Order: sequence, then C-alpha cells, then structure tokens
Amino acid sequence: RQNERESLLIVLNFAKTFFQETLLKTDEGKSIGLSYFRERGFTNPTMEAFELGYTLDQWDSLLLEGQRRGYSRDLLEKAGLILIKEGNAGGDNKVFDRFRGRVMFPIHNVSGRVIAFGARILKTDKNQPKYLNSPETTVYHKSQVLYGIFQAKQAIRQEDVCYLTEGYTDVISLHQAGIKNVVASSGTSLTTEQIRLIARFTPNVTILYDGDAAGIKAALRGLDMVLEEGLNLRLLLLPDGEDPDSYVHKVGADAFKTYIKEQSQDFIDFKASRWLTEAGDNPLKRAEGISDVCASITRIPDPLKRQTLSQRVAQVFHVSEQSVISEINRLLRKQQ
Ligand code: UTP
Ligand code: MN
Ligand code: MN
Ligand code: MN
Ligand code: MN
Repeated sequence: RQNERESLLIVLNFAKTFFQETLLKTDEGKSIGLSYFRERGFTNPTMEAFELGYTLDQWDSLLLEGQRRGYSRDLLEKAGLILIKEGNAGGDNKVFDRFRGRVMFPIHNVSGRVIAFGARILKTDKNQPKYLNSPETTVYHKSQVLYGIFQAKQAIRQEDVCYLTEGYTDVISLHQAGIKNVVASSGTSLTTEQIRLIARFTPNVTILYDGDAAGIKAALRGLDMVLEEGLNLRLLLLPDGEDPDSYVHKVGADAFKTYIKEQSQDFIDFKASRWLTEAGDNPLKRAEGISDVCASITRIPDPLKRQTLSQRVAQVFHVSEQSVISEINRLLRKQQ
C-alpha cells in the first residue's frame, strides 16, 4: 500500500516534469501553451511556482515517454494519466493519454507533492469540459484537497486568514499579485475536510467567489459549513461577471487588497443585507430573513459566540435581542 502510494507520486512527478518540458521546450508547447499563459498575464516565476505545463495534442505523448522510462501501463492508469478502453470482439485494447492538447495545472498536496492535475482546454468547445480533472486515485481524494495550499500555507499562517476562491487561475493570479494566502476548492463544492485543512493554519476564512448566480449559491452553502467547523467567516462576491483572477488584472493588486478590506462582510451582514434589500417594508419577509440568519447562527458550536452574535442580528434588523435569542433557541430545539 505504502509502496503503491510512493510509486504513484513518482510517476505523477515524472508527468509534471514532462508537461513542464513540453510547455517550455517544444514548438507546440511554446506557440500554444506558453502564449496562452502569457496572454493571461502569468510571468515565468508564477508558472514555475505552480509548475504549470502543457500536453501535446496527440494520443500518446505521455504514454510513450512514460513507457520509455520504464513506467508500466498499469501504474500510469492508476495515476489517472492514461485511459485503457477494452477493444470489442477480441480487438486490441485502446490505450491513450487522458490529457491532450491542454494546459496543465498540477495539484499539490500540503507537502508539495503532485497528486493530480487540472487540465484546461485552450479554445471553448461545447462538446468538451473547460477543465478536465484527474479521477480519484489512491493518492488523490478531491474532497480532501485544496488547490494552492502548498504555495499558500506559509502566507495563511502569516496573514492569519485564508482566502477561498473558486478556481485554479484565481489562486494563481492573486498569488502573482502578492496575495499569497489563497486557495481554491477546485472541481468540487466546498467540503468539511477542506475547511478542516484550512483550520490547521488559521481560524479565519474569507470567501471570494465569482459574482454570478453559481457563486452566490456556493457562498451561501459554504457559509454554514465554515461556521459549523467553528471558524470565523467573511464573504465577498466579485462584481457580476468578474472572478478574482479577472478583477485583480483589471484593478491591480493594491486596489484589490483595499476592495477585500472594505467590501468583505461578516456572514450576518452578508445575509442580512440581501434579506433587507429583498424585504423592504414587508414584515413577513423581514421575519423570514431573521429566521434565516438565526439558522446560520445555530451552526456555530460555541454558545458564547452565538450569544454575542444575537446582539448583532438584533441591531441589524432593529428587533429586540430577546426575540432573536428565542428564535435561535426554537431552531436549536427543532434540530435535536
Ligand atoms: P470557472 O468556470 O469559474 O473557471 O470554474 P475559472 O477558474 O474562472 O477558469 P478560467 O479563468 O476560465 O480559466 C471555477 C473552477 O471550477 C472547476 C475548476 O477548478 C475551475 O477553476 N471547473 C470548472 C472544473 O473542474 N471543470 C469545468 O469544466 C469548469
Ligand atoms: Mn496575472
Ligand atoms: Mn463561475
Ligand atoms: Mn476565470
Ligand atoms: Mn471563475
């Protein structure tokens, strides 16, 4: 078991290096992959820090090089790097690279070893996913992994806050802008295991999601999960149509930092402001809003924190603290 793990890590490291060399040293890599990353504004040190690569638009470039180096088909398949399709009616099996003609984003574990890849298509194609990700393997459990955690962990400790984004390029562009305490729950919606991974480095999380409907939905879902783990939470949705990557390129690093500082909200303000906008003078809607914020408060394990936050809810909605406390208690009883 231990042996298989180590073999997989070795072959994944080989693949990472092969994809890097393909990016930097082949004509196709340079003219397609490297120009793509340059157009996105990634510098050489950034590409180096995230070990970005490119895979040729061929069926078997990795397979051939891997076998030349003595890695078996079986190992390459277990690492999620190749696919083996059984031939029908006694025909030969078809063996080919999983990732072809894409720019490659290695996914590292906390100690910096490559455990998987995200692979982005270069041109939009409705018949193919924008990002193709490694399957689950012995070394890659996507629900337990945060993209960028290796590059971010020191800064997360130092800044004592972790910025949580949606995507690979959000992590990379913020890192390049000097905002290095940033990770992404790529390819999956946020999980409890991912939140616990953050908690190893800081008790403070700021969610920075895309300003589209999917981003709002994901933020509201992530909100309760982060509270449940006892972490402190702030949220900020990017302007509609922007994500952290596009926005930091638009406004620059300093303005982006100011933007986070001034526009991020704690979860009560985040939820309350949406409810108050929707409710206007409608008392029933306001009550619904209070109950919704209280429901999130019931997620918090620490009773003392719940108590202090009830005061904030009362202020924000202009109701008595007692009514907030009794609503929280009613919801808590209901959950038992
Ligand atoms: P987005 O659609 O916001 O992509 O998905 P992005 O990160 O902004 O990518 P660019 O800027 O277009 O290159 C957010 C994240 O969701 C996962 C990826 O991790 C992506 O970074 N995703 C998205 C997939 O796994 N597969 C997909 O087909 C799309
Ligand atoms: Mn950039
Ligand atoms: Mn999006
Ligand atoms: Mn993007
Ligand atoms: Mn995005």
